[in-house]
Amino acid sequence: MKVIILVLVVSSIGHQGRAGTPCPPEKDIYPWFCINTPTSHHYTFTTVICNRHKCERHLENIDGRAGHMMYDRVIISGVIKEKKMKNGSVLSLPHNWLWTSRVRELEIRGTPLSGCFLCDSPLSEQKHYLNKLVVSNSVLSGTVCNNCKERDVNNDIVDTSGLRHLRTLETLDFSFNNLEKITVTSFPSDLVSLKTMVLSHNLISDVSSKAFTIFPALTDLDLSHNQLKILNRDVFLNPNRNLKTLNISWNKLSVLPEGLFSQMVGLLEVNLANNLLQFLPSTTWNHDLTAVRTINLTGKFNVLHS
Ligand SMILES: *[C@@H]1O[C@H](CO)[C@@H](O)[C@H](O)[C@H]1NC(C)=O
Ligand SMILES: *[C@@H]1O[C@H](CO)[C@@H](O)[C@H](O)[C@H]1NC(C)=O
Ligand SMILES: *[C@@H]1O[C@H](CO)[C@@H](O)[C@H](O)[C@H]1NC(C)=O
Repeated sequence: MKVIILVLVVSSIGHQGRAGTPCPPEKDIYPWFCINTPTSHHYTFTTVICNRHKCERHLENIDGRAGHMMYDRVIISGVIKEKKMKNGSVLSLPHNWLWTSRVRELEIRGTPLSGCFLCDSPLSEQKHYLNKLVVSNSVLSGTVCNNCKERDVNNDIVDTSGLRHLRTLETLDFSFNNLEKITVTSFPSDLVSLKTMVLSHNLISDVSSKAFTIFPALTDLDLSHNQLKILNRDVFLNPNRNLKTLNISWNKLSVLPEGLFSQMVGLLEVNLANNLLQFLPSTTWNHDLTAVRTINLTGKFNVLHS
């Protein structure tokens, strides 16, 4: 049986290129629902959505029973109401979720999640498929770690070990949570294709040494709307050829270290708006910054040194 399913998955992928599979009958996946959107090139874009009452108890309905499916986008949105959440009710993703189905984009929004929501390897079969993961407004809090020592003992850890092997992941968005600390071990080092990382609207006050050096392909980093007082050059690769946009607006930066942008030869856009900067020393901007097009300095400057 397993062999047959695998053969079917492989042949359907080979056959359909980048297209999603047609929606299964509604009764097969209820309370999920599915939408097929035609795209150019005669392909169909397949989205499955879980946003109805009690849908969180039937997460596995989009797998297996519906056959082997290729989903372009899987959305879980607002399924645990605030009342239940105060009661401590949070969601985790089931063990070996989506064992026979494949997903290109997974978005979880407005749904309280356990810091251990990835602990049971729910994405282990998506390692050649998942391109984008959004987990936004889901009360994730504290330190992000892929080698967390105290599993699930307190709520102040977000365990990312379930992101291991996602070598095709290009976008990771953890915005609108309560994350506090990002270190070099926050994420597994397998995310070699990651281009866009969004950590805006959190409570991040601590980005430690080498934190972003494990992402060789990173082009866009959004750390806006956090609590950063300092950001050091050594959190990024050096030299850094790929980083194009850096958004550190709406933080508490009062100084920019000398050479913060040195050897960032691809940098095009820096957003420094609305920090506590008093002045901008010319040593921060050295001659490496040949490509920069935009520096956004909206906010509370007193003096601009040239
Ligand atoms: C939520 O509260 C209700 C009523 O107080 C209780 O019966 C239920 O077990 C609680 N659920 C959780 C997950 O704590
Ligand atoms: C941060 O700044 C970048 C570049 O200026 C912009 O593209 C992005 O939308 C901004 N993010 C937020 C949350 O405003
Ligand atoms: C500068 O950044 C602020 C805050 O993120 C934003 O509101 C404004 O539109 C930006 N200005 C430009 C010219 O991008």
